[in-house]
Amino acid sequence: MSNIGSYDERLGNFSWSISEKELGYKPGDVINIGWYCSDRVCQMGKASKLALIHEGFSGVERRYTYNDIRLASNTIGAFLRGLGIRNEDRVCLFMDKIPELYIGFLAILKIGAIAQPLFSAFGDESLYVRLSDAGTTAVITQKKHAPKIKKILERLPHLKHIIIVDHDGKTPLREREVAFSLTEAKPVETLEIFETKAESPSVFHYTSGTTGQPKGVRHVHYSLISQYLTAKWVLDLREDDIYWCTADPGWVTGTSYGIIAPFCLGITQCVLDAGFSAEAWYRFIEKYKITMWYSAPTAIRSLMKAGDEIVKRFDLSSLRHLASVGEPLNSEAVVWSQRVFGRPFLDTYWQTETGCIVISNYPGMEVRPGSMGKPFPGITAAILNPSTYEPHSSYGKIGLIGLRPGWPSMMRSYWNNEAAFQGKHRNGWYLTGDRARMDKDGYFWFVGRDDDVINTGGHLVSPFEVESALLSHPAVAESAVVSKPDPINLEVVKAFVSLKPGFEPSKDLELEIMNFIRKKLSPLAMPQEMAFFKSLPKTRSGKLVRRILHAKEWGEEIGDTSTLEDD
Ligand code: PRX
Repeated sequence: MSNIGSYDERLGNFSWSISEKELGYKPGDVINIGWYCSDRVCQMGKASKLALIHEGFSGVERRYTYNDIRLASNTIGAFLRGLGIRNEDRVCLFMDKIPELYIGFLAILKIGAIAQPLFSAFGDESLYVRLSDAGTTAVITQKKHAPKIKKILERLPHLKHIIIVDHDGKTPLREREVAFSLTEAKPVETLEIFETKAESPSVFHYTSGTTGQPKGVRHVHYSLISQYLTAKWVLDLREDDIYWCTADPGWVTGTSYGIIAPFCLGITQCVLDAGFSAEAWYRFIEKYKITMWYSAPTAIRSLMKAGDEIVKRFDLSSLRHLASVGEPLNSEAVVWSQRVFGRPFLDTYWQTETGCIVISNYPGMEVRPGSMGKPFPGITAAILNPSTYEPHSSYGKIGLIGLRPGWPSMMRSYWNNEAAFQGKHRNGWYLTGDRARMDKDGYFWFVGRDDDVINTGGHLVSPFEVESALLSHPAVAESAVVSKPDPINLEVVKAFVSLKPGFEPSKDLELEIMNFIRKKLSPLAMPQEMAFFKSLPKTRSGKLVRRILHAKEWGEEIGDTSTLEDD
């Protein structure tokens, strides 16, 4: 029997107080995610249970019990406090998937500061934009990533500390740098936990939109209530599970379900800090006898591409439950996983802004391959008419996915950007920016995004951010960025560029521009292709029309062009 039991029964008598009661929380109490994910688990008799098994690039394994996690997060928390870091200060985690990332996250929350995880492969400009917007006080990082921070340091006057967790003790520290070693620091037995309340800020994740710079999504400690219950009912996490969430905590899946959910449930989780290969992943599942695996469609499609034969070389019989998130999970992938693993990947749908799974397939409920499933109990979702923002009255019609605000982990604001936050709300609905349809049985079917944001391999790329990076090259006069189809990543980034007088298109220039922007962007946002144009399609008022370029790449109808210049 799955944790959720019957979806329909849960739907009938649902209240978030189910989660509050299980977590021993009463409205008005102190609620601190860092404490819930370590101290409380120990208090419940699981101090010696394994919390984290970590395998690094070189194959070196590190193991932490819940008591180790409690002590280590106390130790980092005390160190941060000693530097003068206070509640609501933003502390960025800019690291590979090393244990200090997972433990440092809890430490930041324990002292009431706000955790701001950023993907360690970000280039210096991507990093700068996010650190300056958040007014970040400190960055916790590794020595190999510190040079990127040094490059932008002058422009970040509020950044007081760069904490290097793997300093060799010999190399001289540079401006604002300080060394910290978890293995050498004296463990701190008792740390005064900051008394955060439900609405105290906890985590900032930056997410890309179509226009403007990335937005800081502000979450609060109360998010725990829905992260706990969705992990229990959708991911079906149980006491003896060995759980593997493949996401990097630079993204919301890696924090909501890669740190908070498994730790607050007192589950043993494994982390692999190594690049993707089918062989390495299957070996990891076999070695640690993974039972619950939460991954993403691009990885699943890559595994499909690697073929069925390789699966047979490994004993994957420990797998009990599989789920996926981040981009459309095509029905072929669901059918394939049923064939080779003996169980389907269950699709789950949510966003940085929602903080938890909002539409999903559930263990025990009929899976319709290709569908995202049904709203989580406690979430009201509808397909809205794009003109009236009223729910469509008949089934099968495509519209906007709208959610009724009010569940515990809904973002509370975009940091310093009230206009963008308001822009996402209409007629009492939060607009996800996605389009879908609902069948007569209430299953949701994803159709596409309702904006120009590119979802490449599950990572949202803002065309604006890539266009800005291109424009900062001295040869580039105009730039436009759209997606083009790709069999594995579903879509990849394609750049169109027109040149300033005196520059001629050439392979060398293309390479030079690509190298130039590579330093500024995340590797995931890098265009896979560049095309030179004399001029780019614009409206008569000079606004770039990506729609035309997009339609050409996807072989679609171009549509109405009456407002374009030169038509
Ligand atoms: O477009 C949807 C797509 O990813 C977007 C959210 O991206 P992000 O905020 O980075 O969070 C990703 C992980 C929670 C959504 O607006 N998306 C997410 N899940 C699915 C999906 N598209 C189709 N099917 C899904 N299951």
